[in-house]
Amino acid sequence: MRTEVLSPKSQHDVQLNNSVELNPDHIMQTATAFWSSKVLLTAVEFDLFTVLDQTAMTAEQLGKKLGLHPRGIYDFFDALVASGFLERQGDGPSGKYKNTPNSSAFLNKNSRLYIGGMPEMLNNRLFGFWNNLGEALKTGQPQNEIKHNGKPIFEELYSDEVRLGQFLDAMTGFQAANFQILGEKFHFENYTAVSDIGGALALLSRIIARQHPHLQFNSLDLPQVLPLAQEQIEKDGLTDRITATGGDFFADDFPKSDVITMGNILHDWNLQNKKILIKKAYDALPEGGVLIAIENLIDDARRENLFGMLMSLNMLIEFGDAFDYSGQDFRDWCKEAGFKHFEMIHLAGPSSAAIAYK
Ligand SMILES: C[S@@+](CC[C@H](N)C(=O)[O-])C[C@H]1O[C@@H](n2cnc3c(N)ncnc32)[C@H](O)[C@@H]1O
Repeated sequence: MRTEVLSPKSQHDVQLNNSVELNPDHIMQTATAFWSSKVLLTAVEFDLFTVLDQTAMTAEQLGKKLGLHPRGIYDFFDALVASGFLERQGDGPSGKYKNTPNSSAFLNKNSRLYIGGMPEMLNNRLFGFWNNLGEALKTGQPQNEIKHNGKPIFEELYSDEVRLGQFLDAMTGFQAANFQILGEKFHFENYTAVSDIGGALALLSRIIARQHPHLQFNSLDLPQVLPLAQEQIEKDGLTDRITATGGDFFADDFPKSDVITMGNILHDWNLQNKKILIKKAYDALPEGGVLIAIENLIDDARRENLFGMLMSLNMLIEFGDAFDYSGQDFRDWCKEAGFKHFEMIHLAGPSSAAIAYK
């Protein structure tokens, strides 16, 4: 009997005859997603959305203002129109480009809602480092600035003032909406004092202090961060409500409080250090006190929160042995430390608050 060898084309046909719909679009969209990503990141790098604050420009005017060669201007600006980051009134050389409401609010430096710090860091640091994802997966080793010098990442990042500022701004863009929603959804009225461990620019404290005027805050972060946090607290007129403390959350005691928050802290560390921080929180809290971790919690079955899993790969790139985790992981670790009850509150997009009660 003759065995028929199926060519790739006829295999494809067999699938179609069994009425399985085949479509390569998703593969190609994901494969080329870095093109779109780099267009947006480059627009942020050029500060294009700030240049277009309250104004509309033709391609030629905008290209000149940004110092661009004429070859790419229509492709670049129209790609931003097609991907929804710019609007264009009219076509051709007289068409005028302007910000969309979202670009104007979040990518324009004159807006107090600016979240471009994260795109800036993605562009300046992570875009290049992610090119070595394969090596990270094979070796389990970080691929960022510490790849060749083996220094602790925060020591390396904070040794350069520009990078320090950039990193802290990036965090702000990530978490503002989460902290706002946490302040709305969590029953802070039952508590009096909050310690934010690894509080960076004290953003959590500054947002939740405005929502809950009875609360006092202590925002603990490394000494290099302290003056920058204090500057923000003063700017917001909250010096009587928020104390910023410089210290090391592994070496120093946590400030006394009945709520301890950790925003994107546990995911920066390996399992052993995660458990040390959870145990320190447990020991510092009174009976009935509460630990809240604000992270991109991965769903327990690890099938849905793509962003959480990509963030965890980002932790591989940044730290090597650090990783993101699920609500169930958090419950297990906190139970081991002695916490009794648990709750998960969904925040913005892929983020949640994992809550453990002592
Ligand atoms: C990923 S950022 C998170 C910042 C902020 N909590 C948020 O949610 O955006 C981690 C923070 O931990 C701080 N940090 C790292 N190691 C620390 C240490 N040993 N002691 C105190 N803070 C530390 C960093 O300076 C940084 O602000």
